[in-house]
Amino acid sequence: MATPHPADNPLLRDAFEPIRMECDCPDLVIEGAVPADLDGVLYRIGPNPQFAPRGAYNPLQGDGMIHAFDIAGGRVAYRNRWVRTRQWELERQAGRALFATADPRDHDPSVARVESQGAANTHIVAHAGRLLALEEGHRPIEIDPGSLETLGPFDFAGRLPGAMTAHPKFDPDTGEMLFFTNFPSRAFDGALAFHVADARGEIIRSVEIAGPYPALVHDFAITRGHVVFIVCPLTLSLERLRAGAPPIAWEPERGAFVGVMPRAGGEARWFPALACMAWHMLNAHEDGEAIHVDLCQQAAPAFPTPDGRMAPEASLRQFLTRWTLAPGEPVAVRRLSEVVCEYPRIDERRSGRACRYGFVAALGGPGTGDLLHRAIGRYDHETGEMALWRAPERQAVSEPVFVARAGSTQEGDGWLLATVFDEARNASHLVVLDALRLEDGPVARAHLDHRVPAGFHGSFVARG
Ligand SMILES: [Fe+2]
Repeated sequence: MATPHPADNPLLRDAFEPIRMECDCPDLVIEGAVPADLDGVLYRIGPNPQFAPRGAYNPLQGDGMIHAFDIAGGRVAYRNRWVRTRQWELERQAGRALFATADPRDHDPSVARVESQGAANTHIVAHAGRLLALEEGHRPIEIDPGSLETLGPFDFAGRLPGAMTAHPKFDPDTGEMLFFTNFPSRAFDGALAFHVADARGEIIRSVEIAGPYPALVHDFAITRGHVVFIVCPLTLSLERLRAGAPPIAWEPERGAFVGVMPRAGGEARWFPALACMAWHMLNAHEDGEAIHVDLCQQAAPAFPTPDGRMAPEASLRQFLTRWTLAPGEPVAVRRLSEVVCEYPRIDERRSGRACRYGFVAALGGPGTGDLLHRAIGRYDHETGEMALWRAPERQAVSEPVFVARAGSTQEGDGWLLATVFDEARNASHLVVLDALRLEDGPVARAHLDHRVPAGFHGSFVARG
């Protein structure tokens, strides 16, 4: 008999409370009008542990669940499925959690020798006809795009020896997918490996890069000619783990570093910068000899220092920030907006190019006293303004995903898709916003009868 999730953990209740079922809803109730040109599937993913966790709960290791909104002809169909990893299957057979999410020492002894396939809960992307559920510590898990059936781990025909970041980048001109592996040798020595898969999905180049120190590197950026890594001093240490100290710790005295490497090959060059934490990049581009990188930055993350001290709450707030690297100059850091925000996305036709707009989940998150985001934002590099659509009272938004309007090539001309959790209904809906007029509110809402638990990232895959 399944047991309830612990009600005292804020990451397992309210908007975060996992759901226990998989379902198919062929035709959602629509409020407003879904644009007729929207034709494809929005895939979203996040942690949704199948059973009440063993020991402490780390959402970064909660079983991934995919939520797919299939949009065509003004209608929306919905399907959700867990990613059926090896751990998920063993737990389903056992009828309870066997794998601990926070501390492997809490695993059930029966699975102590079972290698994890990862939670597959962080991002879901499509490339070269494959749909891949990603979590940065492990290989991708391939998913059938229609049925959402789990097809199994994917290693690019043996060319990906280790894990894959959950934040690959896609070159809009070449169709390449660019990505990296943190800790490629599992030596936790600060090395990174950079990979390029061509438009057919075959890895055509892998380069190992020596980094400044072993750190959590969650995202990176590309330009037309370069890849950019921002390494922040949220470090990983097995020595600390063995000594009973936090294995992942905040060490601001190490400073941050920016690594720049030509995409075509060559050495990575590292530039020092002031300590801060950046989980997600918005975009990057070249400007003559300079490179601009836009990202969401916090002064410090919600992790302890090696001796257990936490940063003040206010320093956790995240702001859109531009880093500029110019030859012979120190790294310049400039805050772009005073609106707290996370989950930055762009019109991906501008990936690696100068872009005008950034789309974010805003008003909430770390350091604000609210775990959830309450607005969708559109930052305009030309005006420096952040336009907002505020969700109604007691509703919370996910990351917005941009979809270009059919036939339009103008940047930002299209739709933003996000899920909204409605606390009053304890249920979620999909919202469709006109990206350049998001202040006007949703043009459509597609209602579910259940909750889409607060998750991480998603992608829209156009049909055809
Ligand atoms: Fe992420």
